[in-house]
Amino acid sequence: LSQISAAQAIVYSGFNERKSTVSIICSPLSAQDNPLKYEFGDRDGRQNPEYVIQAIGLTANMSIADVGAGGGYFTVRFASVVGPEGKVIATDIKESYLDFIRERVANAGHSNVEYILAGEQDPRLPDRSVDIAFLSSVYHHLQEPLIYLQRLGPALKDGGRLVIVENFRRITSHGSRVKDVVAIAERAGFKLVKVDESQDRFFIAAFSFAGE
Ligand SMILES: C[S@@+](CC[C@H](N)C(=O)[O-])C[C@H]1O[C@@H](n2cnc3c(N)ncnc32)[C@H](O)[C@@H]1O
Repeated sequence: LSQISAAQAIVYSGFNERKSTVSIICSPLSAQDNPLKYEFGDRDGRQNPEYVIQAIGLTANMSIADVGAGGGYFTVRFASVVGPEGKVIATDIKESYLDFIRERVANAGHSNVEYILAGEQDPRLPDRSVDIAFLSSVYHHLQEPLIYLQRLGPALKDGGRLVIVENFRRITSHGSRVKDVVAIAERAGFKLVKVDESQDRFFIAAFSFAGE
């Protein structure tokens, strides 16, 4: 496929909540630019999103930034967990991806998501805006991870956490080494709280901001 005029997507409004098939119109997107590419095959089987959400401690009323949200795989799930009194900020460097997520979120019936067009070197999140800054499979895309993480720190509220989810580098080149991520995050002013390596394919590293 070189062009896609409409993509059929299974959109989940929550984990095991109602499931509906919807048409997501994405006419300007080429197949390569369709963010659903991040959900090929059995993403739930690979990703275990319920486990991730429990591991990062996301609960109702919290605020979380889904940095580099792609097609909104985690955004819609986060929106369901934090509820109407909580907030999700979906960011990406691609405006078309944010448009895609907007439609997906609306179809799932959520109205607690905000959108920010990030810069390559700048997350552009307001200071002290979130309890969790969450990056899933984004870290290895960052051209200057040290600068990016330095700019992310002030976005955390007091006691907030930076969470980096990455595939293990030993499994795929689209991944990172735990020690490299921890080293850069610490240089950027974060303090490691925990690394969860219990999953087969990916790790979850949580940091506090040393400036807190
Ligand atoms: C592999 S996808 C992951 C998408 C999503 N986080 C997920 O888990 O499905 C990487 C995403 O990061 C975005 N991205 C790359 N560099 C970025 C940056 N500097 N700031 C924000 N988003 C970025 C890409 O446009 C893409 O949507």
